[in-house]
Amino acid sequence: MSEGLEIDLLEGVGPVTKQKLGNAGVYDIIDLASRGMSDISDMLGGDNEKASELINKARNYLIEKGLLTKEFIPASELYKFRLQIERISTGSKNLDNLLDGGIESGAVTELYGEFGSGKTQICCTLAVIAQLPKEQGGVNGGVIYLDTENTFRPERIAEIAKARGLDAEKLLEGITVAKAYNSSHQELILKELGKFIETAKVKLIVVDSVVSHYRADYLGRGTLAERQQRLNSFMHQLLRLAEIYNVAVVVTNQVQAAPDFFFGDPTRATGGHVVAHLTTYRIYLRKSSKMRIARMVDSPYHAEKEALFIINEKGVDDPPEERKK
Ligand SMILES: Nc1ncnc2c1ncn2[C@@H]1O[C@H](COP(=O)(O)OP(=O)(O)OP(=O)(O)O)[C@@H](O)[C@H]1O
Ligand SMILES: [Mg+2]
Repeated sequence: MSEGLEIDLLEGVGPVTKQKLGNAGVYDIIDLASRGMSDISDMLGGDNEKASELINKARNYLIEKGLLTKEFIPASELYKFRLQIERISTGSKNLDNLLDGGIESGAVTELYGEFGSGKTQICCTLAVIAQLPKEQGGVNGGVIYLDTENTFRPERIAEIAKARGLDAEKLLEGITVAKAYNSSHQELILKELGKFIETAKVKLIVVDSVVSHYRADYLGRGTLAERQQRLNSFMHQLLRLAEIYNVAVVVTNQVQAAPDFFFGDPTRATGGHVVAHLTTYRIYLRKSSKMRIARMVDSPYHAEKEALFIINEKGVDDPPEERKK
């Protein structure tokens, strides 16, 4: 629990409410502020009004403490706040340039592309680099890796660490792997994350992949609306976590490249639009012989541009001819 952020510091929160929240595992203001209304309402026996009042109080408390930005804020202040954003290097200078220095804290970045395009490899490399000090491209933080496809391999982390001359064992210790067995389980894990972020000083959360369980659990058109709604709520919760704890969140999303594919609409597969609207940055990945091409799509301020990178024993890396520069 965060020192100085105990729930009873909020005005008007009595012992009964505190107890109810505590029973559900919510002990501090940060955790409370990061929850969705329905979540807190359930803990309070269905009292929606009280739930939204509590969440607002928690958010206002964090704003007063300078831990969160206000809804209405002068651009100059926002600019200062944005300068504090931390970035995690991807391991490739090209890719970092595309991202203005790396994956951003306080935001959700979506990596999407077809199978083998490098989504998981980028996540694994980030999981290593995030733990390093700033001079080495990291943010000195712990990592949570939510693995929904059972494709996380500690051996690959060890290989990437060794190839970069790092202590593999120590880096493996810094990654907490959560395996989600279905979409409900994935949602349950997300609810538990708040506490974990604080104790393990987490700076990076990976969700690889964010949509696969939803795709599998909601087969058939009839349930499409429900699926989108659940996925929407999952993405909202992730964004709140990113913002409130100032962690970088990276999600992956597999999409099939259509044969007539051009830069039009590569997101027609699953999750597609819900994910697109709720992520801060979207990077489209594709293969081109041995190279990988990343393209920044729909960013609020990055120009739509592309970067070349490769995958090797170091995880993500620059193409050999670029490294010499
Ligand atoms: N140790 C390695 N050395 C070199 N290249 C590797 C290594 N491990 C993986 N790769 C490359 O990475 C590719 C797989 O990329 P990755 O697993 O990131 O795909 P993905 O986008 O996550 O795909 P999916 O949608 O199926 O999960 C392999 O096809 C291979 O080219
Ligand atoms: Mg993958």
